[in-house]
Amino acid sequence: MEIRQISKEQTWHLRHIVMWPNKDFDYIKLDKDDLGIHFGLFKKGHLISVVSLFIENNTAQFRKFATLQSEQGKGYGSILLHHVIAQAKKMGITKIWCNARENKTNFYEKFELKNSKQMFQKSGINYIIMERGLN
Ligand SMILES: CC(C)(COP(=O)(O)OP(=O)(O)OC[C@H]1O[C@@H](n2cnc3c(N)ncnc32)[C@H](O)[C@@H]1OP(=O)(O)O)[C@@H](O)C(=O)NCCC(=O)NCCS
Repeated sequence: MEIRQISKEQTWHLRHIVMWPNKDFDYIKLDKDDLGIHFGLFKKGHLISVVSLFIENNTAQFRKFATLQSEQGKGYGSILLHHVIAQAKKMGITKIWCNARENKTNFYEKFELKNSKQMFQKSGINYIIMERGLN
């Protein structure tokens, strides 16, 4: 198993098949992708989990976190997210946050992200902003 930085293009396939398989491929591309730091977890050379970090000032948002369906629930996503949080700390980031799908808030609480109580809806999915200080 290996975690390394990847290109935006390398994230797109997993984002699409895992998160929005019924939307056009372009739907999962972000305008900000050029500004992102993209991380991938490889198992036996295959990319199975991705997440993208977007930094503004001392704050980082992670987005488009996705593990290949057949590899979910095995701990890979957690390993990747721990890595990203550690990297953010090293970079001097003081706060990390995400728009969490409502059904994933318990998962993020394991990483000490707290429910900010700010919610919104997009494409029929409820999201909650989860955040954590990194001091
Ligand atoms: C969210 C996501 C990226 C997590 O990736 P993952 O690789 O499945 O993450 P993990 O395997 O580390 O953790 C997933 C669950 O399995 C559990 N788990 C981890 N290792 C485990 C193990 N060895 N045995 C049993 N359960 C385990 C975790 O505790 C976690 O449980 P929870 O969801 O009830 O909190 C993945 O579920 C996904 O791609 N979902 C669809 C897209 C999505 O929702 N993205 C996030 C938008 S906010």
